[in-house]
Amino acid sequence: MMRVAMFISGGGSNMVALLDDMARAGHQGMPCVVLANNANAGGLIRAQERGVPTVVVDHRPFSGDRAAFEAAISDALTPFAPDMICLAGFMRVLTGGFIDQWTGRMINIHPSLLPKYKGLHTHARALAAGDTEHGCSVHEVTAALDDGPILGQAHVPILDGDTPETLAARVLVQEHRLYPAVLRRFVAGEREPLILHT
Ligand code: GRF
Repeated sequence: MMRVAMFISGGGSNMVALLDDMARAGHQGMPCVVLANNANAGGLIRAQERGVPTVVVDHRPFSGDRAAFEAAISDALTPFAPDMICLAGFMRVLTGGFIDQWTGRMINIHPSLLPKYKGLHTHARALAAGDTEHGCSVHEVTAALDDGPILGQAHVPILDGDTPETLAARVLVQEHRLYPAVLRRFVAGEREPLILHT
């Protein structure tokens, strides 16, 4: 079994999807800890409700000293002995110093069809560009933001009248399909990208 740590910053809906799938038969991953960078992250309660240990490492006391913040994260993780990390709505940028310790063992979900729209506000940018489809990607985390090998993508049509909010809501539904499916394959050693269409 692979011990899976999940990092969140907010509601953790992707984390919940991952936890619920790991609770189903045949999954070679097991959740070992959910880490949040703020104590108000709604996902913390949802993890606790599912019996998963949680830990908070608030980034604010480190006021910009990213290395110190990341050292605190590493210290917090040690007792849970994770084999890999899933970033799930984690809104802090991690430096290469931390990422290099998890090469090939840290994945992330991003709400765009990478390599398009790295960074923030992806839904608004896809709409502004007049794209006919959007979606989400799960990728291995490398030092370059929202880069790294693609492990899966879900394609979502853009509909007439879509707003960033309506599009984000449809993409989020597909995130909850894609991320668990990719994690299930990843812990089994599979790296062939999974492509989903809606
Ligand atoms: C989602 O759009 C996800 O793609 C991005 O953060 C947003 C919130 O995710 N990474 P969650 O509900 O906290 O999992």
